[in-house]
Amino acid sequence: AKDVHLRWNITWVNAAPDGYERPVIGINNEWPCPQIDAEQGDRLIVDVENGLGNQSTGLHWHGIHQYTTGTMDGTSSVSQCPVAPGSSIRYDFILDQAGTYWYHSHNMGQYPDGLRGALIVHDPNPPFDFDEEITITLTDWYHEQMTELLDQYQSVDNTENNFGEEPLPDASLINDSTQTQFKVQPGKTYFIRFICIGNWPGHTFLFEDHEMTVVEIDGVWIEPYPVGDKNIRITTGQRMGVLIKTKDDASKNYAFWDTMDINMMFIYENRTVPDNYNPNATAWLVYDESLPLPPPPVVNEFDFIDDVEFVPYNGDPILEPVDHQIILHTGQTVENGVTRFTINGQTYIPQQVPTLYTALTVGSEYYSNPDVYGDVNPIVLEYNDVVEIVINNYHDNLHPWHLHGHQFQVIQRSAVDGGYFDGYFANVSSTPVLRDTIMVQNYGHAVIRFRADNPGVWLLHCHIEYHVEAGFTATIIEAPDKLQDLYITPQDIRICDAYGSPSSGNA
Ligand code: C2O
Repeated sequence: AKDVHLRWNITWVNAAPDGYERPVIGINNEWPCPQIDAEQGDRLIVDVENGLGNQSTGLHWHGIHQYTTGTMDGTSSVSQCPVAPGSSIRYDFILDQAGTYWYHSHNMGQYPDGLRGALIVHDPNPPFDFDEEITITLTDWYHEQMTELLDQYQSVDNTENNFGEEPLPDASLINDSTQTQFKVQPGKTYFIRFICIGNWPGHTFLFEDHEMTVVEIDGVWIEPYPVGDKNIRITTGQRMGVLIKTKDDASKNYAFWDTMDINMMFIYENRTVPDNYNPNATAWLVYDESLPLPPPPVVNEFDFIDDVEFVPYNGDPILEPVDHQIILHTGQTVENGVTRFTINGQTYIPQQVPTLYTALTVGSEYYSNPDVYGDVNPIVLEYNDVVEIVINNYHDNLHPWHLHGHQFQVIQRSAVDGGYFDGYFANVSSTPVLRDTIMVQNYGHAVIRFRADNPGVWLLHCHIEYHVEAGFTATIIEAPDKLQDLYITPQDIRICDAYGSPSSGNA
C-alpha cells in the first residue's frame, strides 16, 4: 500500500461543457475535476484549500465507510465545520474498500456547480477478467449556479419555476461534456464504471449493439447480471460497473446514448415538457477516428432491470434477527412559504455545532434524549445492533436514499404506487444486494438493513441536492458511547460561526 497525496486548491473557473460558458467549481484551476485512482489499502491524503473567495466548502467521499475515521466524512455541520474561504483542511484516511466511488462537496448544495469527481479504488484481485477500464460519469447540467437555482426552487410565485418545482436541467453531460469519445480497441473486454454524479434526475443508458453485463454495484462485486434487452437506470449517488466486449474488427463506430428520467422531471410532477426539450446525451465508442460517429439509437420505452435482484459476489447472508426497526414516513410540506421535505414530520436544519461533536459531549444523554442533537432527525443506534430502516415515500416522485458509513442490504422495495410497509414480501432474498444508495418509488417503500458496527455520525438522505437543501435528511448517531475510545478527542470540538468558518483552529 502507498500514500496517495493530493494538494487541491478549490477555485472558480469558467467552462462550457455544453457550449454555454459559466463559472464552475474546479480543482487547481481545472475542470472537470480529476479522477482519483488508488489501490485498495492505500492511504488517501487530500490537502484542500478553499480558494473560492465567496463560499465555504468541504469534500465528502461517497460510499467510503470511514471506519474509525468519521471525522473525515466531509459533511458540513455533521463531521466538520464548513471550510471558510481562505481556510484549509486535511482529509486523511485508508481506502480499505475496493470499488467505484466518488467525491463531492457536502456543503450548501454546492456540488452541482461542478465540485465532484470519480474516486476509483482498484481491486488487486478482481473476480472477473477485463483488459481495460473506462469511467463514465452522468449528470444533469444547468446554466445557472446553485445559489440561483435554489432560490428559484424555494421561492413562491415565481412564474417560471412554480413553487416547489425543481429547476429543469439545461443539458445532460457524459464525462462533463456533450461530445465525449471513448477510444476502444477491437476484441477486448472493457470494465466500465458508471457514476451518476447528478443533482436531480436519474439516467438510463445503453451502448449501440454492445451487450452489458453488470458486475459491480455501489462498490460491491455482484454475480454477473446480463442486461439483455432490458434497460438500466441509475440515480444520483449510485454506481454501476459493467463489462462489455468490443467487436472483433474496427469497421464502424458505435453510439452511447443517455437520457434523463422524464418521469421524475415531468410525468410524476404533472409538468409539461417544454417544446424542444432535450433530455438526451450521446457519446461514442470510437474504434477508428477516421470513420463517422453514428447518430444514437432512439428508445422510447424502457423495461428496467430491478437492482434488488442483484446478488453480491461474496453472497453474504441476510442479517437477522433485526434488533432495532425504524419506520420513516417521508414527505413534503410548506413551512413559512418555503418548500421543505420532512421525515416523520420534521425537516432537517444544519446545526452550528457539528453533530459528531455533539454526540461526543452529551454524556449519558447519548441514548436517552435525542433532543440534545437539535433539528437533525436523530436516530440513535446501539453498537452492533442489526438495524432495519423502512423508508415510506408519501411523495409523488422518486427519491434516491443514501446512507453514509455503510453499504446496506436491500431487503425489499415496492413498485411505484406499491404502498407503504406492511410486512415482508414473500420473495426476500437470502443474500440481499448491498448498496449505499437506493431509489425509493413514489407512494411506495424500501426496507434496508445493516449492522451498527461503525461508531460515528452518518447522514441518511435523499441524494437529490435540491431536496437536501430542503431538509430531506436524517442523522444516524451510531454507538455514540464508543466514539471517544475510537478516534475523537474533545479538543476537536468546535463551534461553527454563521458563515461556516471554524471558531477555533482547523483539523
Ligand atoms: Cu454523496 Cu451525503 O452524499
